[in-house]
Amino acid sequence: MIHSIPLSAPDITEAEIEAVTAVLRTNSLSLGPGLEEFEALLSERHHKTSAIAVSSGTAALHLAIRALKIGPGDEVIVPSFTFIAVANAVLYEGAVPVFVDIDPDTWNMNPALVEAAITPRTRAMVVVHTFGVPAELDAFCEIAQRHHLFLIEDACEAIGATYRGMPVGTFGDIAVFGFYPNKQITTGEGGALLVRDPQLAYRIRAMRNQGRYPTEGWFQHRELGFNYRLSELACALGIAQLKRLESILALRAHVAALYRQRLVEFSAIQCPVAHFSDRTVSWFVYVIRIAEQAPAELRDCLVNRLSERGIAAGRYFAPIHHQPAYEAFSQVHPSHLPITETIAQRTIALPFFNRMTPVLVDRVSDAIRSILQEENAL
Ligand SMILES: Cc1ncc(COP(=O)(O)O)c(C=O)c1O
Repeated sequence: MIHSIPLSAPDITEAEIEAVTAVLRTNSLSLGPGLEEFEALLSERHHKTSAIAVSSGTAALHLAIRALKIGPGDEVIVPSFTFIAVANAVLYEGAVPVFVDIDPDTWNMNPALVEAAITPRTRAMVVVHTFGVPAELDAFCEIAQRHHLFLIEDACEAIGATYRGMPVGTFGDIAVFGFYPNKQITTGEGGALLVRDPQLAYRIRAMRNQGRYPTEGWFQHRELGFNYRLSELACALGIAQLKRLESILALRAHVAALYRQRLVEFSAIQCPVAHFSDRTVSWFVYVIRIAEQAPAELRDCLVNRLSERGIAAGRYFAPIHHQPAYEAFSQVHPSHLPITETIAQRTIALPFFNRMTPVLVDRVSDAIRSILQEENAL
């Protein structure tokens, strides 16, 4: 169904279209100056940590797991209330994702539960900054250090967010970003890693490019690698988008504030936590929750009725451990995730994008009001 108000919409300027077109007039469509500049800009923003641009957030996660030599017999702690790529990347390398429950307010992994899930086989944790809200990084860093675990930050949904004044992505051994079109900034498809250890970064760069080392020939492949390169066209878009990240984040924060103003009066709905004393949110999506006193069925009712009115809404996230692709896995590795399972039945992602006007926010909010009225849930 085509919705008149989509869930997300990329925001591409004329200057960005020109920047991409200009690349097409050159001889350098891959592994050129755009890649170097995009990586330099990402590194600059993140305390000069090595930045490696790749073809997707999933590719970034896969390289992170592989580069840390995580494999068969190892466990990696991950949330289930997130995008499936987080657990898939662990499975790609033959290791076991161990799902841990979340905090009911931030929807990020709960550090105490992470600690309780550590076994002698645990090698790493993937800490996701869900929907752009930074996770409890102090606690995760401390746990990782004490148990000698790798900390991988998944900042695919959180570029530009800060924790105690520091950008997310600068806390982990490795951090990953994603630039799919629904993200704060996009390269069409794309992603990146930030890698603290320069030697590890050197290897990941080679793994991204079929195992080639820069000092050796094009047909010299030192290790098993992948084609996870990001094209010069994508980099040109990424450079331009990254340069206006601050204004993009401000636009998104404004849309989030408008939603809160409009929706806060509905007792059947809870708005996401927007303000923290120690962190800033990089708004990725606007996800509301059906309040505890209302029936969970109201969620699907709202999604369906909004859709009938031409308004897209998403069921974010269906837990990974309930996905059909994880059915066999979950039989062997059952998970106990009561908060994930409760929250996942009650969350709705509303239309949310940079250029969302107050009129559009009103249309969505008015539609919600009338549906709640029809359902006697006002
Ligand atoms: C938390 C998280 N991790 C990883 C990914 C994967 O990124 P991509 O879609 O670029 O492969 C996403 C993407 O949506 C995500 O939200």
